[in-house]
This record gives sequence, C-alpha cells and structure tokens, in this order.
Amino acid sequence: MSKNYYITTPIYYPSAKPHMGHAYSSIIADIFARFKRIQGYKVYFLTGTDEHGQKIQRAAEKKGKDPQSFCDEISQTFRDLSDILNLSNDDFIRTTESRHTKSVQNLWNILEKKGEIYLSKYSGWYSVSDEAFYSEEEIDTKDGNKIAKSSGSKVEWVEEESYFFKLSKWQEPLLKFYSENPNFILPISRKNEVVSFVNSGLKDLSISRKSFSWGIKVPSNKDHVIYVWLDALTNYLSALNYPDTKNKLYIDFWPATIHLIGKDILRFHAVYWPAFLLAANIPLPSRVYGHGWILSGEEKMSKSKGNILDPIEIIKIYGLDSLRYYLAKEVSFGNDGNISKQKLENTINSDLANNFGNLCQRVLSFNEKNFKLATPKTYTFNSNDLSLLDRFKNNYENLIKFIDNQDLNSYMNFIVESLFASNKYFNDQEPWNKKNDDERLNTIIYVSLEIIRKISIMLYPVIPNSSLKALNIFNLKEKDVKFETIKKHDFLTKNTKINKIDILFNKIQKND
Ligand code: MSP
Repeated sequence: MSKNYYITTPIYYPSAKPHMGHAYSSIIADIFARFKRIQGYKVYFLTGTDEHGQKIQRAAEKKGKDPQSFCDEISQTFRDLSDILNLSNDDFIRTTESRHTKSVQNLWNILEKKGEIYLSKYSGWYSVSDEAFYSEEEIDTKDGNKIAKSSGSKVEWVEEESYFFKLSKWQEPLLKFYSENPNFILPISRKNEVVSFVNSGLKDLSISRKSFSWGIKVPSNKDHVIYVWLDALTNYLSALNYPDTKNKLYIDFWPATIHLIGKDILRFHAVYWPAFLLAANIPLPSRVYGHGWILSGEEKMSKSKGNILDPIEIIKIYGLDSLRYYLAKEVSFGNDGNISKQKLENTINSDLANNFGNLCQRVLSFNEKNFKLATPKTYTFNSNDLSLLDRFKNNYENLIKFIDNQDLNSYMNFIVESLFASNKYFNDQEPWNKKNDDERLNTIIYVSLEIIRKISIMLYPVIPNSSLKALNIFNLKEKDVKFETIKKHDFLTKNTKINKIDILFNKIQKND
C-alpha cells in the first residue's frame, strides 16, 4: 500500500476576512495531515485561496480596489491564519498564480481536444454568492427576490454565449464509479444525496462567462473567462505542478487521498470534479469528505448573516489548542456543530485542565517529591498496570482506522476514555501509600509517565503545541513523535532525568 497521503482543504474565497467555518476545515485537515505524518506517511497538505470570478470582482469593486490588489490583501489574511492555526500545510496556492493559470488552461485544452466542450448560449439562474448555476426547480421566491433553495442566496438571470462541458455524457460513468468506490463520498448520508442528484439526470454545464473579465481566459477565445469552479477545482492539480505529470510531486501525490470540504460544496467536488477528470482521463481522487457547518445558534456562520465568531479573537482569549481541541472533540464530525464561549470553557475545564492537565501535574509533582524528577530505576508490571498499558497497544490499529475513515470522534473518545482510565489508575494505585514498597511505587510512577507519553503522542495531531510541551517532560522533540511508539510499554529509559513543565491548561473560573 502506498505510504503517501495528499490532503486538501477547500481554497477559500478572499472576499472577506476568514471566519470560524474556514478555520474549522483547515484545522481538521491539519489533524489528519499531522496524524499521517507521525504514522510515517509522506504527506502533502494543501490549502490556499480561490481568487477569480464575479464574486471576487464585485467584492473588489465595492471596496473601490482592482481585483488583484484586493486579493493580494485578503489572501494574505488567510495565509496569516494558517500560521495562527499552526497548520502544517506544505503549500499555499493562489489561483491568480501563473502555475495555476497554466494548469487550468492545459486542462481546458485537453477537454476541448477530446470534444468534451462546445459553444452555445446559457440562459438561466446564477448565484454570484455561490458561483453556481441553478435550475428552475432549485429556485424559490422570498420577499420578492429569487433565491437558491439550498443556500438561500440571491440568484440573477443570466443570458450569454457560453462554452458547455458535456456533463450529461458522464452521468452513467459517474454512477458506476460511485458504486465501484463506495467510500468515494463520505459520510454515507451525503453520498446518497449525490447519487440521487446524479440519478435524477445531469445537464451539460456552462463553463465559461463572457460578461465580466476577472478570471482565466479560455485559451482559444479571449472573450470568455473560464467558469470559476473549473478554475478553482484544478488547484488540486496545479499545486503538484500539473501538467508536468512526470515530476515527483505529481507522481507521489496524485490522485489525492482526500479532499476535505464543507457539505455546501459537495456537488462541485463529487460530481463536476470527477466528471472533468474522467473526461480528461486523469485518475480520480480516492475520497471527498463533506463535513458539516459550524453553526451560530441554528444558522450557518457566514459573513452575509453577520453571525461570525472570529477565530482569532477566540484564540486570543482561550489559546489555539483549546479551540483546536474543541472543534475536534465537540463537533460531531460530518454533522453540523455549535460553538459558543460557554461550551468552549466547559470543554477546557473538563477535558484539558481537569483531565489531561491534571494527570500531567499530579504525576509530575509526585515524581518531583519522591523521585527528584527522574524516571524510576526499576519496574515490574502487574495485571493492573498491563490492563492500562495494553489498551494502547490493543487499539493501535483501530486508532489508525478511525483516522483513515475520518471517524474523528471515535479517535477523540478513545483519548478521553484513556485519560479517565489513567487518572483512575493513579487514584486506585495510591502511590502515596506505597512508600514502603519500592518496587510497586517505582512501577506505578513508571506506568503513569508512560501513559502521559502515549496520550501526548495521540494528542499531537490535535493540539500539537501542548502535546510537545508535555513531551518535553521526556525531552522528546517533534521529530521523535512516532505514532507506533504508543504500543511500547517500556519506551522510557529507566533512571533518567525528566523535566518539569508549566501548567498546560488553566482552569477557567466561572461565575455561574
Ligand atoms: N472557494 C470555494 C471553494 C473552492 S474549493 C476548489 C468556497 N470558498 S468559501 O470560502 O466560501 O468556503 C470554503 C469552505 O469553508 C467550504 O468548505 C465551506 O463549507 C466552509 N465553510 C464556510 N462556512 C462554514 C461554516 N460556517 N462552517 C463550516 N464550514 C463552512 O466555497
């Protein structure tokens, strides 16, 4: 099996500052990328910004800026956010870069040469906010305005000459592909939506626009710009230096392991994108995972609704790892989830301060008093010790499966249960009552330290900074973080100096 892993986030529209929904997609992708790296995979993790199209052109006009300098400015805020979120991305692509233009035009030429594109006229509804065409059945009227039922965004009538992609031709091949690759679209509920959409009949897709200019030109007809979704989706190839299919990045990482996206852009990734690729005879990605939305109350958080929780502000108050942990643990992955300061504070207190932080502090302060900050000289595991230690060894393969199936909640639950089990072990074994039984005392402390090490490694993908702080107890650095070491009961060298660390998570005082 290939030990390469290519994961992508959606590329974000730099129409406004990033918000929690964007941070969510990126953080989850980062968790998977970091996990696969410590599992020993060669990982390529891509994010970036989607800068063309009418939506961006209009946003720039509104600010009285030319679209390029408008994008330069806002794209930078997304790049900065990658640092603030401690993303381990290998590349950040912008669709206004020349490497991308080259790649998109190349794909267009292939499709044209293969007879997959024809010139005609589009008349129908278009939502600039979604950059999507909608059929009559997908439209509603609200307060006198025509809106798209699925997103609620305004649509306008468009009539213009346009190139079309023969999407209808790919209906059967797509259905065949979905049935032969049952895990291509996850979660399964979303796969069913896509299959029934395709089953209901695919119409050819308009893939160029003539009435504005902010985009990549159709190579054979400079009056047209390429439809922004055909442009944007190709970023996943451009970043691997496509059309140079002989270069190492492309060879190592295409087809992508997983495109992680929000559920609102599933149709583009699970229908249009594979159809373009099939038509161009390019291998298809292995998976498209459509996660849910982060809600504010009952509504999707979005700029147009004005209900945005700013990730940067939350991080300033609570710290990055608290936010990362919350999004991984408290949002049921694949479904919509909520975030509020109240809920975040509860999670910080119960899981991070009282459970993980507490385990580290109590074991370390006991060690300091009784072992002067060193690993014990000897140990002999009894059945109590082994039953705790074995849970990691025995679940090693399961944990990998959880991540490979994007079952993030099972992964997180395993960690939380392990923390409870470890704190309970420390209580039940009562090392403070074993001062006359050296062997037992040594063993309990050795086991407790081993458990802190294992849990810190499991937490590394989720809260990398705090995990590394905890691993510093054992002088372990980022390069030493290897997932397979959670199987070892005796990784730590006996009678070796360990380090004291600062409190990892402060408990938040609540007035209620
Ligand atoms: N530019 C397109 C994606 C092109 S990918 C080839 C786009 N950009 S976006 O900025 O509008 O959204 C990017 C991602 O953020 C989408 O996956 C979307 O689902 C996600 N989110 C935006 N708001 C969200 C929430 N409130 N909650 C969770 N994610 C949501 O679409």
